[in-house]
Amino acid sequence: MNIQIDFTLNGRAVSIDAPAHVTLLRLLRDYLNLTGTKEGCAIGECGACSVLLDGRVVNSCLVLAPQVSGRDVMTVEGLAPVEGAMSDLQAAFVKYGAVQCGYCTPGLVIAGEALLRDNHFPTRDEINDGIAGNLCRCTGYQQIVDAIEQTARQRAAAQVKE
Ligand code: FES
Ligand code: FES
Repeated sequence: MNIQIDFTLNGRAVSIDAPAHVTLLRLLRDYLNLTGTKEGCAIGECGACSVLLDGRVVNSCLVLAPQVSGRDVMTVEGLAPVEGAMSDLQAAFVKYGAVQCGYCTPGLVIAGEALLRDNHFPTRDEINDGIAGNLCRCTGYQQIVDAIEQTARQRAAAQVKE
């Protein structure tokens, strides 16, 4: 049986009919055509499906779509300042070689963004803690931590100039 789910997605109001048992991950990918959010394990262990729900990182494979009714969801697509562009953090992932196969990248960008919103000056240990729920089989994490650390520095420098 389908139900109507009304929520805010990447800053826009969305109203969609979907089966009550569908996960947020499947709602995003299959019903809303937002394929930036990836499915890895589908059991809450890899973080590839990370999105922000009311500003907090969640594994969208573990959230049922009706649970987001009336709430705010942000996916990796919502981080770009304009459609088709990259956020500063995404650009840093590219610049510092934090992307190899790229499968983990959307989830790690979401986790990194959540961390930087909470903590403007994270240490490398805090960055490691912030991305602990996101697995990457390719990079060894060093470049990912570099990208997040450099984005924090860049944002701090931009604030000083303002
Ligand atoms: S796909 Fe959701 S945690 Fe792995
Ligand atoms: S870049 Fe391949 S899993 Fe992270």
